Amino acid sequence: MPSFAKSDPCIALNLTLAPTPIEPAWRWFNVSFRHVRFTGHDPIVGTIGSMNQSPDFQGRKALVTGSAKRLGRAFTEALAARGAQVIVHYRSSSEEAESLVEQLASQGARAVPLKADLGRPEQALTLVEQAVEALGGLDILVNSASIFEPLTLMETDLAAWERNLTVNLTAPFLLSQAFARQLDGGEGAIVNMLDWRALRPGDDHLPYTIAKAGLAALTRSLAQALAPNIRVNGLALGAILPPSGAGAQKDDTIIQDVPAGRWGSVEETVEALLFLLGGPAYVTGEILHLDGGRHLV
Ligand SMILES: NC(=O)c1ccc[n+]([C@@H]2O[C@H](COP(=O)([O-])OP(=O)(O)OC[C@H]3O[C@@H](n4cnc5c(N)ncnc54)[C@H](OP(=O)(O)O)[C@@H]3O)[C@@H](O)[C@H]2O)c1
Repeated sequence: MPSFAKSDPCIALNLTLAPTPIEPAWRWFNVSFRHVRFTGHDPIVGTIGSMNQSPDFQGRKALVTGSAKRLGRAFTEALAARGAQVIVHYRSSSEEAESLVEQLASQGARAVPLKADLGRPEQALTLVEQAVEALGGLDILVNSASIFEPLTLMETDLAAWERNLTVNLTAPFLLSQAFARQLDGGEGAIVNMLDWRALRPGDDHLPYTIAKAGLAALTRSLAQALAPNIRVNGLALGAILPPSGAGAQKDDTIIQDVPAGRWGSVEETVEALLFLLGGPAYVTGEILHLDGGRHLV
């Protein structure tokens, strides 16, 4: 735990780690400013105030794409638990979507299921329209739905190329544009789910990687185009969950090249997402790696 002496010539802060009782894994700092002194100015000593920085999403309206299962579901559960009204978007996982809506409703959250195939651009636009109609607006968008196909260059035909680019890049573009339009100058936040591969393109999962690289570039362009009212950040993941369809089994050869020497957890991923959505409002255009250092190797 960091500590600073009162005698520090510039500034002395007492920092305490205070996990909330609701979620012990949540490690936002409770920061108490007790003894603050600026050199060259009249000394100011005393308790200035205290802030609990645990993010509150009360009254916020969120669309997380691909939210019936896996990471999208965890993101939606976390936002709803903190007061957000949520859209549960799905394409084929209708049963999981319905069960999530029921679960959230039983916890007192407002959740609306919406189906859309993001491989069909017109349905991406309809999804935003329907979400706005259902919740009366949106101010959080998480582009999480994705397809992850293990295709090399020679295995990638035009149909596979188009499928990967449409779901992983064109849909986030259309959704972000429609999201910004309906906000009409209001404040909001977008997080695009990326992959460490997006910034280190290799020769595996080729069309997926190129689409995610485009999404990383789009993240930075959107951050400028939509400033100052809409913040846009990216979350570049490493090994968190085995690929969908591969079962729950974790193939540990994947983590041989991970400096942290382990898989990342869903809880850590949620924590990073909430930081990008509800943390310092001065953060935009950032791509945060949650990959145990994989992108460095
Ligand atoms: N899991 C990881 O370890 C990891 C690592 C690196 C990056 N990421 C990124 O993190 C995000 C979430 O990962 P994840 O593993 O939870 O994703 P995922 O399970 O592979 O996919 C999430 C959802 O995307 C939806 N989806 C796929 N094609 C769609 C389409 N045409 N239209 C609408 N929805 C479609 C699916 O919805 P339905 O089930 O309803 O069809 C699926 O449940 C993704 O963007 C992924 O690239 C994850």
